[in-house]
Amino acid sequence: MNRFPLLISMAALIGVVVLFYRLSSIKTEPVVADTGAVHTGVEAEEEHLEVAVIMGRMQRFHQKWWLAGKEGNAELAKFYLHELDEAMEEVAEAGVMDDGVDVSAAMRTYGLPTISQLESILEKEGVAAMHGQAEVMAGMCTSCHKATDHAYIRIKQPDAVSFPDQDFSANK
Ligand code: HEC
Repeated sequence: MNRFPLLISMAALIGVVVLFYRLSSIKTEPVVADTGAVHTGVEAEEEHLEVAVIMGRMQRFHQKWWLAGKEGNAELAKFYLHELDEAMEEVAEAGVMDDGVDVSAAMRTYGLPTISQLESILEKEGVAAMHGQAEVMAGMCTSCHKATDHAYIRIKQPDAVSFPDQDFSANK
């Protein structure tokens, strides 16, 4: 009978040891990298979200490209064409499908060729000629929105652009 408390405390001790072992094994477990490349619905949602984020960047680049062109700053305009091209490439290569619409294919049809066209005008005819074609850029943005069921997102040449901490003028 008087062994009973001993048994209980031994059981408790074993319990503590087991618990300690488990906790320490949890702590030392290596962190398994998430390599899940499987395309689930959730990931598709994320891709969808990603396009809007890239578009936000493109909208900013579009404004800066326009202002650089207006200021006759060829070097800066060329830089923003390149940034737009990179952002578009990201969408073009991601295999984005949105409600049955191939957004990546639309980017290859509308976006990328227009950037090449404006780059070529800038190189061959100069920054003023390129800026003269600014409507081609805005029109392309809107056309692609129409083609991808987002006709309500209409892009136009800016009425005004203000980045107070950046100098867009050509002569420096
Ligand atoms: C593939 C063709 C395509 C081209 C080219 C394109 N867009 Fe988009 N844009 C989209 C799609 C698709 C969405 C909707 C994204 C979503 O539903 O998440 C979008 C959304 C937007 C939005 C809404 C998100 C926001 O931040 O308010 C803006 C603004 C935008 N685009 C600007 C532009 C500008 C500026 C250009 C041109 C320089 C451009 N887009 C060119 C396909 C395009």
